[in-house]
Amino acid sequence: MAANWKMFKTPAETTVFFTNFLPLVKDAGNCEIAVCAPFIDLPVAIAATHESNVTVGGQNLYWAKEGAFTGEISGPMLKAIGCTWVIVGHSERRQYFGETEETVLKRTKAAIEAGLKVIVCIGEVLAERESGQTEAVLQAQFDGGIAGLSAAEFAQIVIAYEPVWAIGTGKTATPEMAADAHKAVRALVAAKFGADAAGAIRILYGGSVKPDNVSSLMAQEDIDGALVGGASLDPVSFSKIVNY
Ligand code: PGA
Repeated sequence: MAANWKMFKTPAETTVFFTNFLPLVKDAGNCEIAVCAPFIDLPVAIAATHESNVTVGGQNLYWAKEGAFTGEISGPMLKAIGCTWVIVGHSERRQYFGETEETVLKRTKAAIEAGLKVIVCIGEVLAERESGQTEAVLQAQFDGGIAGLSAAEFAQIVIAYEPVWAIGTGKTATPEMAADAHKAVRALVAAKFGADAAGAIRILYGGSVKPDNVSSLMAQEDIDGALVGGASLDPVSFSKIVNY
């Protein structure tokens, strides 16, 4: 169960969040919990979650290890401060910051080389769904952004299927729509990396996941977890999702 805070919360607000959140999820023994926070919040998030069952991640990285790349943050930097995870290829990065399949693959490889686990996001926009292209889009994103990983690299990723039209809109894909997409993604994994990898990969659903819809989504066979934006900002709401 992963939180994507996007561009929300100061360090002080991060401390308050964990003070309230950690006691609510301390008995959540059957899932991994990750909070992906803005870069400036990571040190306090990592300090707050030390010796807890919650891990922390960034929301983006640059693929070079270091260098003259003003404003960027590298995988080794995230690893050095204690991150476990990083999100790559979120639809907002694709939409507003020029992320492509090629840069998704470069970032993912760099993150894995730095020792991070990666949540790689894929998903179709509304026009693509309405014109029946969902599976073709997922295939293209998989082929360009994920299929170029080695088997060992692939073992370090989690895939998040996030239909872009369901992100932050309150429109969730129906559990059946999500289940179909997850099944298609798992089939892509099986074709490229084999049946064992397809069985082992965790595929998260993201897009307006809330405490009141998480159970019906998680009941679907191929949905292994959730990537939660808006509803992860409130400790009570995110704890209800974790503890569904
Ligand atoms: P949302 O965001 O839960 O606010 O729809 C999900 C995401 O963008 O990861």
